[in-house]
Amino acid sequence: MRVFFTGGSGKAGRHVIPYLLGKGHRVLNFDRVPLGAAGAHDLLGDITDAGQVYSAMNSHAGYDELETGQGARPFDAVVHFAAVPRMMMCPDTETWRVNVVGTYNVIEAAVKMGVRKIILASSETTYGVCFSDGVTDPHQLPLDEDYDIDPMDTYGTSKKVNEVTARTFARRSGADVYALRIGNVIEPHEYETLFPGYFANPAVRRRNAFNYVDARDLGQIVDLCLGKNGLGFQVFNACNSTNGMNLTNDELLARFFPNVPVTRPLDPHESLMSNAKARAVLGFRDAHDWRDYVPGVKG
Ligand SMILES: NC(=O)c1ccc[n+]([C@@H]2O[C@H](COP(=O)([O-])OP(=O)(O)OC[C@H]3O[C@@H](n4cnc5c(N)ncnc54)[C@H](O)[C@@H]3O)[C@@H](O)[C@H]2O)c1
Repeated sequence: MRVFFTGGSGKAGRHVIPYLLGKGHRVLNFDRVPLGAAGAHDLLGDITDAGQVYSAMNSHAGYDELETGQGARPFDAVVHFAAVPRMMMCPDTETWRVNVVGTYNVIEAAVKMGVRKIILASSETTYGVCFSDGVTDPHQLPLDEDYDIDPMDTYGTSKKVNEVTARTFARRSGADVYALRIGNVIEPHEYETLFPGYFANPAVRRRNAFNYVDARDLGQIVDLCLGKNGLGFQVFNACNSTNGMNLTNDELLARFFPNVPVTRPLDPHESLMSNAKARAVLGFRDAHDWRDYVPGVKG
């Protein structure tokens, strides 16, 4: 597919774009800064400028497309990752402007240009624990897509609003709009640099409910979404199948969530942010479990 990808120069995109290229997709990366990936043209621009978004989304995907003489044209799919990706990077008002206005621009332009598949980056933070003020409990565990999401911070709320925007445009147009509640993204080198610290002090991972998503496995989820049609608006948790922790769920629940209702029996290591829907509906199977990359740790 010809894919218009926003925010591909960042932490997640720099692994997801190569994955999509490896699956044979054509990718144009629309970002404020270049990625410089072989095979993906960088088009520099700003998602908060609707004119730029409309113009960029009706474009050649690379210089070689000039040879076809087909002219600039819309894309088969839009993958929207561009954002302020967490709280306290800039003032809340700016996080809101970029994430909410920018996402509106991207989805509106895609739908009005006839794009029938839109995938956007929502977030684990919509569950309201990650960036809550104070140590708060989730309503229930595991976290699944039916949860009544109630973030209290501006970043998480911007992602919740973006899911509302996505649903609106799916209903209006009949397009497939899939929102990925992305877990904590881990790049390949971070298993070695971060995980030993997590195992030494598990409390630092409570706000993520101990989940993680390998950046390459996130690429697989995006590719599976590109290949899955006809579902309208959908939300998928996008995380790996096990907790990023060397403790069992019995131990994690007793230590960190003793008062939280558990809605179903849990496997000892299954992720407390459940990816059961992505596995059942999309056919997702992790290729990169942390145990393959952190030597000498039992878990
Ligand atoms: N990293 C995580 O753990 C995580 C978890 C959940 C959700 N997410 C979401 O996944 C997406 C990607 O996250 P990431 O970690 O790669 O973030 P990142 O900050 O590394 O990458 C985001 C990219 O968006 C671009 N961008 C920002 N504002 C822009 C604008 N106005 N116009 C055009 N481009 C703009 C940036 O230049 C950057 O390359 C984001 O939507 C983020 O909210 C990330």
